[in-house]
Amino acid sequence: TPRKFFVGGNWKMNGSTKSIQSLVDTLNKANLPVEQVDVVVAPPAPYLALVRSTLDSKLGVSAQNVYAAKSGAFTGETSPLFLQDLDVHWTLTGHSERRQYFRESSEYVAEKTKFALDQGLSVIACIGESLIERETGATNTVLASQLEPLAAALTPADWARVVLAYEPVWAIGTGKVATPAQAQDAHKYIRAWLAKHVSPAVAQATRVIYGGSVTAGNSGELARMADIDGFLVGGASLKPEFTQIVKARL
Ligand code: G3H
Repeated sequence: TPRKFFVGGNWKMNGSTKSIQSLVDTLNKANLPVEQVDVVVAPPAPYLALVRSTLDSKLGVSAQNVYAAKSGAFTGETSPLFLQDLDVHWTLTGHSERRQYFRESSEYVAEKTKFALDQGLSVIACIGESLIERETGATNTVLASQLEPLAAALTPADWARVVLAYEPVWAIGTGKVATPAQAQDAHKYIRAWLAKHVSPAVAQATRVIYGGSVTAGNSGELARMADIDGFLVGGASLKPEFTQIVKARL
């Protein structure tokens, strides 16, 4: 069975009530091909309720981060139960900006991913190497080290609600998109790793999406690669071209 194409829009720490209302309006009117593509947008946490209550229900909404506890004295954190309460059924985990600026380790990312899954959420779990890691030939080693704690924490059944986002750090927000061959190589490695360390069935079924300077212009070529099942879009997800990226595989 073919994997359904998946396009996420990570709005990061951008927007205002006004700009977000206008973006939601654009998405609602875009007539996106939701039968063929899963579309999920990730607004900043304070706007999740606004977006969920105004966005077309056929489009998914995701948090950008989540905490690994149901409630309690964790000032500033977002419980997966808050998300469920708001009818928000997705979260990102392990985005490179969280790993880099908030020192989230792969073990911690795996713990949060497992906790979110256990509370019924679906998760876009992010991995990817830095420029120095790529230049020193460590890309696959880094990807394996980021996948290992995830595979240890998750059951094979958990993977049905996981989308893996491969985002090379050197391509994020830089305008330096990975070439289709570079991205395909990494995605193929990730799928082979899953086949060996989780199961061939999970490897076959799990969407592996690419993120890092995806635009309307480069999305078509990337979408034709065998192991690229969609995109996690940052900057371009705030612009009208997001609609074209959603349709990259059509
Ligand atoms: O989560 C999205 C990625 O970090 C990609 O961001 O499209 O602005 O490079 P970008």
